Amino acid sequence: MRLLDNDDLQVFYSDYTLDQILRLREVLYDDDSPKAMYLKAVMCGILHGPSQMFLSLQTKDTYSGTANYVREYAEEHDLELPERDIRPKAIQKHELAQEDFIPPWVNSQTKITQSNATDLPFESETADLIVTSPPYMQTLNYDWNNWIRLWWLNTPREDERDNLVSTQDTDKYREFMRECLWEMYNVLAPDSVAVLIVGDVRKHLSNRKQILNTAAIIAEEAQQYTDFDVHGIIDDAYDVDNRSYVVFNRLKYDHDEDDEERETIDRCLILKKGSPEMSTEPEIDWEKELYKSA
Ligand SMILES: C[S@@+](CC[C@H](N)C(=O)[O-])C[C@H]1O[C@@H](n2cnc3c(N)ncnc32)[C@H](O)[C@@H]1O
Repeated sequence: MRLLDNDDLQVFYSDYTLDQILRLREVLYDDDSPKAMYLKAVMCGILHGPSQMFLSLQTKDTYSGTANYVREYAEEHDLELPERDIRPKAIQKHELAQEDFIPPWVNSQTKITQSNATDLPFESETADLIVTSPPYMQTLNYDWNNWIRLWWLNTPREDERDNLVSTQDTDKYREFMRECLWEMYNVLAPDSVAVLIVGDVRKHLSNRKQILNTAAIIAEEAQQYTDFDVHGIIDDAYDVDNRSYVVFNRLKYDHDEDDEERETIDRCLILKKGSPEMSTEPEIDWEKELYKSA
C-alpha cells in the first residue's frame, strides 16, 4: 500500500484489488504508447460501477460518489469489498468494446485527440460530420463525478474543473454554446452536418420547478448567431410505446419557462451548414449487417 496517495479509495476497493490498481497505475505512469493509453481507457471503464463487471464494491451508478456517501451506502446495503483481479475484468471490457461494429478502414484512418470544444484542433472546412454531446448546463459536476478516474489518470481535479464548462446560468451557457457552434461551423466542410445530443434540464427555482429544453436553446443560438440552419430536433422519448418523433423545419422552438411536471428527455439537434444531401425520412434497415454488432 506504499503507493496509496488517497485513503478514500479504501472505501471502494478491497486491499487485494487496490494493490493491483496502484501497481498498474505506477507502471503506466508516463507511458503514452497506444497500448498503454488503451489500457488506461479500459480501466476507466471498469474502475467502479453497479455490477460484478467492475473492480469496486457495487456502486449505485458509474459516477464516482464521495467516500462518505459510498461508505454509508455500503453500510446500509451491507456491501462487501470484493477481491477482484484486474486482468479478467479488463479482458471482459475489451471484448465488450470490440462487439460494436467497427468498419475495417477505421484502424488506418483514426486519429484520437483531445481539446477544448471552443478551440478544435482541426483545419477550417475539413470535417464532414460532427457528432457531439455537450454538457447540459450543470446537471453533472464532471470533475467530482469522475474523481476516481481522474486520480487513476494522474490528472488533478482542479485542472479538469478549470478546463470544463459547468454553469447553472442560462446566459453563460448560451455564450459557451455560441462559441462552440462558431468553432463547429468553422471546421465543418461546406454542405455538411452537425448532430448534438443533449438532455432537458430540471431547475429548482425558489417557488417552482422549471424544465429547460437544452436542444431548443442551442437551436435558437444557432439560428440567431450562426449561419447554421436548424434541420430538426429528434426527441428521444425512451419509452417504447412512445416512438421517437422528429420536429422538422419549425421556425420557433419552444423551450424554457416550461414548468410542467413532465419527464426530462434527451434530444438530438441536427444542424446544417450549406445544403447537405439529407432525407427527412431516412429508411434505415437496422437488421442490415453493417449496423449489427459483431
Ligand atoms: C453530456 S457529457 C457527454 C459525455 C460523452 N458522450 C461520453 O460518453 O463521455 C458532456 C461532456 O462534455 C465535457 N466538457 C465540458 N466542457 C467542455 C469543454 N469546454 N470542451 C470539451 N468538453 C467539455 C464534459 O467533461 C463531459 O464529458
